[in-house]
Amino acid sequence: MKSVTAIAHPNIAFIKYWGNRDPVLRIPSNGSISMNLGGLFTRTQVRFDPSLPKDILFLNGQPETGVAYERVRRHLERIRQLAGIRERAEVVSLNNFPMGTGIASSASAFASLTLAASVAAGLNLDECQLSRLARQGSGSACRSIPGGFVEWQAGEGDLDSFAYSLAPAEHWALADCIAIISQEHKSTGSTEGHALADTSPLQPARLARVPAHLELCRQAIRERDFDKLARVVEMDSNLMHAVIMTSTPPLIYWQPATLAVMNAVHVWRGEGIPACFTVDAGPNVHVICEAWAAEEIEKRLRAIPGVSQVLRAAVGGPAYLEQEAGSH
Ligand code: PMV
Repeated sequence: MKSVTAIAHPNIAFIKYWGNRDPVLRIPSNGSISMNLGGLFTRTQVRFDPSLPKDILFLNGQPETGVAYERVRRHLERIRQLAGIRERAEVVSLNNFPMGTGIASSASAFASLTLAASVAAGLNLDECQLSRLARQGSGSACRSIPGGFVEWQAGEGDLDSFAYSLAPAEHWALADCIAIISQEHKSTGSTEGHALADTSPLQPARLARVPAHLELCRQAIRERDFDKLARVVEMDSNLMHAVIMTSTPPLIYWQPATLAVMNAVHVWRGEGIPACFTVDAGPNVHVICEAWAAEEIEKRLRAIPGVSQVLRAAVGGPAYLEQEAGSH
């Protein structure tokens, strides 16, 4: 059977997705906006094979049988249903960014899996259909299907909850310098985190602000206004963490070095360096900046105690097919 390979980038949210209205279909409580991370990617190869008794998954060279396998198997099941096929698949997925650094790979993993598996299954889905399907594997994966700067409209159900591009990657030369903060313990994943969002008394206040944040963020991107972007991105990240810290049970993803980086970024912005921070469900700090400032920021981040490494990404394009090879 035909083997198909697809590539997708992770993304960093400027306006965060936190909480689901429907956890099964992953219909989010609010819309979100992100930037794809060019240079970082997951490459996923899928081959349906009638001789396979069950699906097989290799993740970064290792055969997987646990939770990750089950999530991928369920996603393949959705694609088999859509395509009307029964064959099991072999899935080989590789990240080009280091494991164990807390860089979430589920967005790029499920975006590349969705594209590769749907084509391998004989489906010819458009961007919106691919985004809706990727969303069911991992919410933020729907934002890794379109390119550049991307908005995920929350929608009310499966049909209208998908992401589309607000502007292509070339629109604005931004960069993300990701300060990796050493992680001693594996933190609670985002799937569990979303389920706790509504237990926080601050979630309604956060949700009430989201439409205004989305509009400010769209404007900042359209006008390439870094100061406007910086203010809304930091506010939105802090609001999400306020919800996380006040959920039951409460979670704190920040570590001392997370705060050290956040404070340093404020000092640098005061000096005129166009940089702002945003933090996902872990201790790492994404320092979003204008691309020309990235080298200096990277150098300064490396000098902060507790920062174990710094990864740099440009604005990335959409998910794409790498090859379609016939097999024997
Ligand atoms: O797609 P998930 O379930 O991994 O959730 C992503 C949650 C955040 O990264 C914290 C925010 C976001 O919008 O990406």
